[in-house]
Amino acid sequence: MVRNLTKKSFALSALVAASLMASGVMASDKTEPRNEEYKDKFSKQYNSWHDTAESKEVVDMLEEVPSLVVLWAGYGFAKDYNAPRGHMYAVTDVRNTLRTGAPKAATDGPMPMACWSCKSPDVPRVIEEQGEDGYFTGKWYKGGAEIVNTIGCGDCHEKGKSKLRVSRPFAERAFETLDTPFAKASKKDKQSMVCAQCHVEYYFEKTKDKKGFVKFPWDQGVTVEAMETYYDNLEFKDWTHKVSKTPMLKAQHPGYETWKLGVHGKNNVSCTDCHMPKVKNEKGRKYTDHKVGNPFDRFEETCGTCHEQSKEFMVNLTHERKVKVADLKARVESQLVKAHFEAKAAWDAGATEAEMKPILTDIRHSQWRWDYATASHGVAAHAPDEALRVLGTSVDKAADARVKLAQLLAAKGVKQPIAYPDTSTKAKAQAALGMDMKKLNSDKADFKKNTLPKWDAEAKKREATY
Ligand code: HEC
Ligand code: HEC
Ligand code: HEC
Ligand code: HEC
Repeated sequence: MVRNLTKKSFALSALVAASLMASGVMASDKTEPRNEEYKDKFSKQYNSWHDTAESKEVVDMLEEVPSLVVLWAGYGFAKDYNAPRGHMYAVTDVRNTLRTGAPKAATDGPMPMACWSCKSPDVPRVIEEQGEDGYFTGKWYKGGAEIVNTIGCGDCHEKGKSKLRVSRPFAERAFETLDTPFAKASKKDKQSMVCAQCHVEYYFEKTKDKKGFVKFPWDQGVTVEAMETYYDNLEFKDWTHKVSKTPMLKAQHPGYETWKLGVHGKNNVSCTDCHMPKVKNEKGRKYTDHKVGNPFDRFEETCGTCHEQSKEFMVNLTHERKVKVADLKARVESQLVKAHFEAKAAWDAGATEAEMKPILTDIRHSQWRWDYATASHGVAAHAPDEALRVLGTSVDKAADARVKLAQLLAAKGVKQPIAYPDTSTKAKAQAALGMDMKKLNSDKADFKKNTLPKWDAEAKKREATY
């Protein structure tokens, strides 16, 4: 509609548009959510963007690391958690995960609307049409027929242009707290800020006027300690741990924050420099490779533009760093699993809230730090020293909790070591926590069969009116 307006009639039409938008009838004129619309105009960018579909492998992290089921007991991630894959799968994966459950109506849980926020250019579209209030109101189901195009052009670009933009107002607010509003940021900064709309730590705010809004907890800084203090001051928790009753924090994926703390971030080598390099087409013309993935796949155009070492050297070095981070991470996990069960044993033996409080605080901080270090995907490449430092403090906090628990359990006359349930596989861990996986899976299968086709049909009808 807006496309056909003449300039003269703009003022009046804008009024009409505003009221149509308020009634939810009109499409946003700032966002084209359908990536296919750019197929011809920007074919090189479109085609390379489409190639993110090649990263299709699904890695079930709960199978790989069954301890995760215990660490996230009582929270959605204990049901299902896969490693990230190509941007092309973002909508598919959020639809399919057991975490989003099998809702049947716009008021059904478990997840809120906010869960769509990093999946699609339909998110800015709906925000532009309904305001953040409209977008964030309601449960995840409500967005099913709206949020259908996977991460694409409209997430990072102004409509129809190559100019970069920040499409999420909550991301813009966060950049302002770091004193870098997007409009004032340098070209280099912008190349990382577009990624930071999603590859960051965030939580769902619950204030009087901003219920369920996404917020980045950056008011005091982006280090693990600054965010921890921020959450503690709010007495915020993502969930209560099912085994230990700890008020827990779930880190999302603070990749931007940890990149900033690493040597490349400090030198302002941008996400784009390594993940979206400038490359040449057959005719020798340069363009930006939009196949966001592993930088080593295009070594000469990424690392090779600044470093003289060979690809083999850099791959090996990165591998060594991954192994070191993974080793310390596994140590934290085994300590924390024990701490959660020991805390349960203490509660069972009659420990009081007052006795448990300092212990639960240690568990909360240890697991938050572990999660901050490991959920920031790629951290072993981006900031290995920071990851090891943070994991070091995490081990410390877990040890503090367990020393206090040993004393408390002894005081309560509990024989140690306590009996830990068998959580050595994903299935055993889920069974130990009393999770009914059969039901979750069959409900999800019904949901995929019955609800998803309805969403797609509704979306198709709506898009036909654009
Ligand atoms: C995750 C963010 C992101 C997404 C998604 C994205 N782009 Fe880009 N795009 C960039 C960045 C970063 C650049 C480089 C800008 C610079 O050099 O400062 C860029 C550059 C461009 C350019 C300028 C020419 C060039 O090749 O450098 C065009 C045109 C373009 N993108 C089109 C698209 C199209 C079409 C899509 C969807 C199919 C898309 N982009 C999706 C981030 C994105
Ligand atoms: C709109 C949100 C959003 C934006 C913007 C975004 N990402 Fe992502 N990114 C995601 C999500 C969600 C996934 C996981 C998709 C899945 O597993 O289904 C992901 C996955 C990835 C992966 C893993 C890919 C693979 O094949 O394993 C990399 C690397 C990545 N993003 C880097 C970037 C970089 C670099 C930028 C900026 C140029 C960026 N992302 C911008 C949301 C986003
Ligand atoms: C745009 C330039 C640029 C690109 C691209 C780049 N780097 Fe760097 N790199 C730097 C700068 C600047 C430093 C820090 C100054 C120094 O040590 O020379 C650095 C430092 C390093 C270091 C030494 C510091 C440390 O972490 O121990 C390693 C290793 C490294 N880079 C690996 C890589 C790898 C691997 C890639 C590709 C995935 C890459 N770099 C891509 C510019 C770049
Ligand atoms: C100096 C180069 C460099 C920069 C800058 C950089 N990355 Fe990476 N990134 C890498 C390398 C190398 C890997 C690991 C690839 C591998 O697994 O071998 C990686 C991994 C990732 C992964 C994990 C992919 C997966 O499937 O596990 C994500 C997500 C990611 N980076 C996002 C970002 C974001 C967002 C930024 C900017 C805030 C960024 N990266 C900046 C080099 C870089």
